[in-house]
Amino acid sequence: MNKFKATVKAPANIAFIKYWGKTDEKTRVPQNNSISMCLSDLYSVCTIEFSSEFREDKIDFLNEKVVKPREIERIAGVLDRVRSLANKSLKARVLTKNNFPKATGIASSASGLSAVTFAGCHAFGLRLNKVELSKLARLASGTASRSIPDGFVEWKKGTNESNSYAVQIFPLHHWKIADVVAIVTHKMKKVSSTDGHKLAATSPFYQSRLNGMEAKIKKIKRAIKKRDFPKFGQIIEGETLNMHAICLTSTPSIIYWSPATIEIMKKVQGWRENGEVESYFTIDAGPTVHCICQEKDAKKLASELKRIVGVEKVVINRPAVGARTVDKHLF
Ligand code: DP6
Repeated sequence: MNKFKATVKAPANIAFIKYWGKTDEKTRVPQNNSISMCLSDLYSVCTIEFSSEFREDKIDFLNEKVVKPREIERIAGVLDRVRSLANKSLKARVLTKNNFPKATGIASSASGLSAVTFAGCHAFGLRLNKVELSKLARLASGTASRSIPDGFVEWKKGTNESNSYAVQIFPLHHWKIADVVAIVTHKMKKVSSTDGHKLAATSPFYQSRLNGMEAKIKKIKRAIKKRDFPKFGQIIEGETLNMHAICLTSTPSIIYWSPATIEIMKKVQGWRENGEVESYFTIDAGPTVHCICQEKDAKKLASELKRIVGVEKVVINRPAVGARTVDKHLF
C-alpha cells in the first residue's frame, strides 16, 4: 500500500498594501506588488493523506457547517497540481481546520490554501523551497502566496506565473507591532474577493491607484525599516481608503463595510487625535477591521474595541512565522 501524509499550520496575513486586480485571472499574477504581515493568532491547519486505498478525493472542514462548492473546487485544484508535480495519481483525504469562524468575514483563503498546498507537497516528499511554494500557493489564492514566508512580506508581482511570488522583507522580530482584529457582524451580501478583483479595472480611479503604487511601496518599506509608526500608519490608512474607493466606484459598486466598520474607523481616528491610543486601521474585502498598533498598546486597544456595538470578537495578533509542517495530524 502506498501512503503519504503531512500536516501544515499556516497563518492568515494582513495586507498593508493591498493586492487588488490581476493581470491574469487564471495564474493570479497581480497588477501591483503588495506588502503584508503574517498573523500569530489566526491560522489554518491542514492534514493531507494520499493513499492507494482511497477511491476518490474526500475534502472536509472541521467544525464548519457551510462549505461553498467553490472552496472544494479550489482545494481539488491544489491536489491536481501537487499530483502532477509528484507524477502520482493517488487519491487524497483532506481535513482542514481554521481557528476562527469563517462566517465572521475573516478571509480564510490565505491560511487555508497555503496550508493545503504545502501539506500536499510535503506529503509526497516534494521539498520545494519557499519561492516555489509561494508560486504554487498563489495559483490557489493570491494572498496564500504571502502566507509562506515569515514575518513582513512583499509579494513581487513579476510579469508572469514563473516570477510572481512573495518573499520576506523583514523578520518577524524586526518590529513589535500588533494587529488587533475587530470582527463585526455582517449580514450584507458579500462579493467574494475573486469577483472583486475582476471589477477593479471598471473604476475610473483604478489607473491612478496603479500609477502611485511603486512610490507607495518604497515609502512603506522605508517606514517599516525605520520603525516609523506614524508614517507607516498614515500610509496604511490611506491605502485602505484608496482600495475601498476602487470598490465603491467599480461597476457594479461593492460596499464591503457595515455600519460597525465605519464606527470603528472613526473611533480609531478619534482615539489617536485625543491621545488615548495610537492605532491605524486597515480593511480587506469585508467588514472586519484590523487595527494596527504598537505591541505595548494592544491590550488597551482590544478592550476599547470590545465596547463598540457590533464588535463580536477581538483577536490580538503579533507578527508570525509563515506556513510550517507540524507533527500532530488532524486524523
Ligand atoms: C482584499 O487572495 O482572496 O484581501 O487570488 O482571487 O483568491 P484570489 O483573491 P484573494 O484577494 C484578497 C485581496 C485582499 C487584499 C490583500 O490581502 O492584499
